[in-house]
Amino acid sequence: MIGTGYVGLVTGTCLAEVGNDVLCLDVDANKIDILKKGGVPIHEPGLAPMIARTVAAGRLRFTTDIDAAVAHGALQFIAVGTPPDEDGSADMQYVLAAARNIGRRMADAKIVVDKSTVPVGTADRVRAAIAEELATRGARIPFAVVSNPEFLKEGAAIEDFMKPDRVVIGADDERAIATMRAVYAPFQRNHERLLVMDVRSAELTKYAANAMLATRISFMNELANLADELGADIEHVRHGIGSDPRIGYHFLYPGAGYGGSCFPKDVKALQHTAKQHGRQLRILDAVAAANDAQKRRLVEKIVARLGADLAGRTFAVWGLAFKPNTDDMREAPSRAIIAGLAKHGAKVVAYDPAAMDEARRVYAGAPHVAFAASPMAAVAGADALVVVTEWKEFRSPDFDAVRAALKSPLVFDGRNLYDPGLVRAAGLEYFAIGRR
Ligand SMILES: NC(=O)c1ccc[n+]([C@@H]2O[C@H](COP(=O)([O-])OP(=O)(O)OC[C@H]3O[C@@H](n4cnc5c(N)ncnc54)[C@H](O)[C@@H]3O)[C@@H](O)[C@H]2O)c1
Repeated sequence: MIGTGYVGLVTGTCLAEVGNDVLCLDVDANKIDILKKGGVPIHEPGLAPMIARTVAAGRLRFTTDIDAAVAHGALQFIAVGTPPDEDGSADMQYVLAAARNIGRRMADAKIVVDKSTVPVGTADRVRAAIAEELATRGARIPFAVVSNPEFLKEGAAIEDFMKPDRVVIGADDERAIATMRAVYAPFQRNHERLLVMDVRSAELTKYAANAMLATRISFMNELANLADELGADIEHVRHGIGSDPRIGYHFLYPGAGYGGSCFPKDVKALQHTAKQHGRQLRILDAVAAANDAQKRRLVEKIVARLGADLAGRTFAVWGLAFKPNTDDMREAPSRAIIAGLAKHGAKVVAYDPAAMDEARRVYAGAPHVAFAASPMAAVAGADALVVVTEWKEFRSPDFDAVRAALKSPLVFDGRNLYDPGLVRAAGLEYFAIGRR
């Protein structure tokens, strides 16, 4: 497993769980050191005990030694990062470096599996990079390149991997397809959900999925903002449309914008691919623009209520991770909200059940951000409560205690977590997204 991040570590551990012998490689020595000492560098429910179990059984190991990793596996999964480059395209340097590492060292046949989210055409580039390295050393060793995009959700990654909705395999090599079928058979004993297709379609499927999900969110966010103007309640509208099976209830939640390591970068990368091919994805241009605006929405509501000069004010922020059950703060709406409040002169006291270490790293030395040890400690003496991530432990607070702790009785809810009547009954002023 090349790359031991959110995807690589989960994939490697789940593959070891079903009996495979997995060696996880990373160039980040610190990460490997933590894992070797029995720690887990990320927060992912259910991951730590599974790692402990598979390590104890001798089926999961960690290394920074590229030679060992290439020698180890007949299957080489590439699960490295593909962050956005300056122009929005996916930065392929880590994927291609991993491919070259394989080509330089392989001594026997390999199946190279692209698990990272990569633009259409990447499998060809990976194949070319490996072939070039083999040619340089005059080696003739067979290999196949397979696209196997990952659909797991952070926060539910183990469950998603162990019980996938579908497993997409893009390949044209029959033996490689048979091997991938065998690799995934333990995860779909009930009925096979393997979708075999050509490589380019597999690569595009991953971007299409994330772009569609981002589109639903931006659509609902824009409707919610309109509902604000119209005096309608977006939560009623959500139920009203979700009950149509053609629409469905999933992923229709309005909020403070989408974040994370995937949607923002994958939308950008797909737009870039389209432009390269003379095609415009007008819908995605709007999806991205609407999301940027939505991340500012809560601060706009705060300014509308309290004025543009927020100097001397402190806001309690509940939730820093981009979504619940993860410590991931990449592109998190909390960052835009905290930056927006700071621009108006305010300070924040933040609490998150899992992302505090990450937040301390992100805000090291920042004078406008302090941290609290509990949700109620964050609220004590604050000018308002701002709910940013829908962690379960924020869903049913003691509103009377919140009101008593706040300096002014204001709640800005970026996730529509509460029944407005209940909040108001406690004497709090309640501002949500698209709610009366
Ligand atoms: N995070 C998710 O929820 C998710 C879901 C589906 C797909 N993906 C995709 O999977 C890929 C990985 O995402 P992630 O969130 O796991 O990233 P991550 O940043 O958590 O992990 C990537 C890891 O790869 C390592 N790495 C970089 N170059 C390397 C090399 N040459 N050899 C070995 N290790 C190397 C990095 O040090 C890092 O630890 C991305 O393409 C992402 O879009 C992510």
